[in-house]
Amino acid sequence: QTVHLSDYTPPNWLVRDVHLTFRLDPTRTRVLSRITFAPNPDAAARDFALDGENMTLISARIDGTPVKPDVTPHGLTCAVSDGAFVWEAEVEINPSANTALEGLYMSSGMYCTQCEAEGFRKITYYPDRPDVMAVFDVRIEGGEPVMLSNGNPVAAGDGFAEWHDPWPKPAYLFALVAGRLVNHPGSFTTMSGREVELNIWVRPGDEGKCAFGMQALKDSMRWDEEVYGREYDLDLFNIVAVDDFNMGAMENKGLNIFNSSAVLASPETSTDANFERIEAIIAHEYFHNWTGNRITCRDWFQLCLKEGLTVFRDAEFTADMRSAPVKRIEDVIALRARQFREDNGPLAHPVRPESFVEINNFYTATVYEKGAEVIGMLKTLVGDEAWAKALTLYFKRHDGQACTIEDWLKVFEDVTGRDLAQFKRWYTDAGTPRLSVTDDFRDGTYTLHFKQQTPPTPGQDDKPPRVIPIKVGLLGQNGGEVQKTVTLEMTEAEQSFDFAGLAAHPIPSILREFSAPVILERATNDAERAFLLAHDTDPFNKWESGRALARSGLLAMIEGGTAPDPAYLEAVQTMARDADLDPAFRALALGLPSQDDLAQAVADGGGTPDPQAIYDALETLKDARAEAMEDTARQLYAQYQVDAPYRPDAGQSGARALANAALAMISRRDGGAAAQAQYDAAGNMTQQLGALGCLVQAGAGDLALGLFYDQWQDDRLVIDKWFGLQVSLAAPQDTADVAARLTQHPDFTMKNPNRFRAVLGALAGSPAGFHHASGKGYALLADWLIKLDPLNPQTTARMCSAFETWRRYDAERQALIRAQLERIASQPGLSRDTAEMVGRILKT
Ligand code: ARG
Ligand code: ZN
Repeated sequence: QTVHLSDYTPPNWLVRDVHLTFRLDPTRTRVLSRITFAPNPDAAARDFALDGENMTLISARIDGTPVKPDVTPHGLTCAVSDGAFVWEAEVEINPSANTALEGLYMSSGMYCTQCEAEGFRKITYYPDRPDVMAVFDVRIEGGEPVMLSNGNPVAAGDGFAEWHDPWPKPAYLFALVAGRLVNHPGSFTTMSGREVELNIWVRPGDEGKCAFGMQALKDSMRWDEEVYGREYDLDLFNIVAVDDFNMGAMENKGLNIFNSSAVLASPETSTDANFERIEAIIAHEYFHNWTGNRITCRDWFQLCLKEGLTVFRDAEFTADMRSAPVKRIEDVIALRARQFREDNGPLAHPVRPESFVEINNFYTATVYEKGAEVIGMLKTLVGDEAWAKALTLYFKRHDGQACTIEDWLKVFEDVTGRDLAQFKRWYTDAGTPRLSVTDDFRDGTYTLHFKQQTPPTPGQDDKPPRVIPIKVGLLGQNGGEVQKTVTLEMTEAEQSFDFAGLAAHPIPSILREFSAPVILERATNDAERAFLLAHDTDPFNKWESGRALARSGLLAMIEGGTAPDPAYLEAVQTMARDADLDPAFRALALGLPSQDDLAQAVADGGGTPDPQAIYDALETLKDARAEAMEDTARQLYAQYQVDAPYRPDAGQSGARALANAALAMISRRDGGAAAQAQYDAAGNMTQQLGALGCLVQAGAGDLALGLFYDQWQDDRLVIDKWFGLQVSLAAPQDTADVAARLTQHPDFTMKNPNRFRAVLGALAGSPAGFHHASGKGYALLADWLIKLDPLNPQTTARMCSAFETWRRYDAERQALIRAQLERIASQPGLSRDTAEMVGRILKT
């Protein structure tokens, strides 16, 4: 049942071409396949086996002769001769009963598909593995008004449509959509002058929410031409929005399918953060056309080959479209919250895992976000010029192939002459390195002494040193830079670096731009942190210093019961008033470490985190800050009102973010009066939701919550916000009760992943409430995971990670969590997905 990377063998049979006919029916869809198989010269064996699940085989033929294959719940085998042959099969599937949202399913009356990673085997019998690539011809019958598949349309008529995709692709990139859809059209002229038709397809009523996505698509197409020389390769590019979707979106060739939350946008219904996320996801899926589709993965262990690189590329795009420092800070916040947490617990795994039971469980922060960090380090190490050369070679050498991480690294070795054997450990070794640093200054020479050490992770005890690019700059005692940013290349377990010719002991700014995904440990003090917050010329480290200052004060409050740190309050106020700083940066720097971040910090210090004490310390600090910064908050709030018509760009978003941060402080002082005024006058969702949050926080939100519901009850994506906010902002002792009550609301449904996550994901994401000493948070989440598992294993399994930090808590909480994990594990018929996750979390 466990699949190992080391067991890889090439496929016995290759596919020359695929012809599929779909006779659509909500409960009895027939899929006819005609596939030409040819022996693979690179494989020794000639056994013939196809994957297939959840379907009824009606008939099968080989070269026109009926055959009786051996069918199991996971596929079939059949006797074949040695040479090429034509396989034909007819199967029946039931899209309406497909609540797992994998394969062909129905969403809001529309047919749609999700095939990555192994969903195609729920559509027809096929060698469902990414190293089998083929040209697909698809005919759809069923009279739906719109019937789409990959590639270009070749024929359409009375109740049917035919599609041809000229680019050989693995089955996971297959897609089909059919239903009553309307399109928002556009067009793009490629760099070689070809006209590409663009469409965003949505349910009638959502046409008004497509313009932003369309512009993001055009911007992405242009950016990939300009930065990477990548041109689009079909006459048509379709995006479809579907309401029921397990993930964000999917890069199917020429027919991207999106969770509607990741594409539909309007100022009235979407926040600035929603707009930014939508722009990034549209770019991400579009960029997959080259990094993923034209060059795909040999097997699913190589998932980071396409995901790490594509996340890296979409981050570069966002940095270019908006603010590079702000994007970097946002990404590091998310990386620490999700990936460091994962890397530090029972679910830790390498960026390229070595084994899995269910591949869907490995679409993780480690594969995606750490995968992107690894790419970023590679670019830092080789430099921009070699990076550009290497990418050009990669696209040229591997176009049309299914590749490995070894292929990727070989390109860089060939271009630079570097040996990347040590660098490869970033792909094979799990765990977040701890990088500790001390310094000294003698005779004008300043020395930094680094030590690296990576704690053991499941199945990996020994961690040899890695190559770590450490960007460092030095500041003089009066603020100016005495050493511009340089990249130190650390390769040993312990290593020192000298900076000669300095007049005085400098202040170091280490790990600028967060140049490696490591935990930096350095004995420093609040005075130095405040100095760097005020003077660091690297925006990332400037933000980082403010964060570290807040954190050290919070830890003292949590562990020592001290009062809020006046040094922090003063430094953060100075920062907030600094008109030379980007408002978006200031809004971020007003953010505080999360509850989860602080819990980990307590655990790292050898303590046992008390979730309620952490929550209380944060509340106390926020109150103290609101008091200390009362005038500043009012000034900022007045100053950063946006008068111009709404635009979701970086400038306006930053102003609104700072104004909302100021409003949050004001609301702690005025009982919600200013927030009520903003709520009543709000012309966009960023202001409306920001104000609603402040009102709820101030205990004055009941009226507005009711009005908000009445106003938006017909807009699912907005109602998701309404559900989520009530759980996230509940007082810890009420969080589970609020979530439980909302699951009884008529609009709650566990069949829609967005809605399920809005309530139960918000519970899991509210540490003080989720970890309430009564255990009611754990029990409620487990109840719902048990209910959801038979319907949707993928979403259930992903949400099990709510429990991944359990070992850091006290014995009582551990016992409560263990009981819930064991209750889940003992459910009869538990999915493979959830069984694997719970098993890994429980295993010590
Ligand atoms: N390849 C998609 C993306 O990252 C994600 C699809 C994940 N699907 C899944 N079932 N795990 O763009
Ligand atoms: Zn992706």
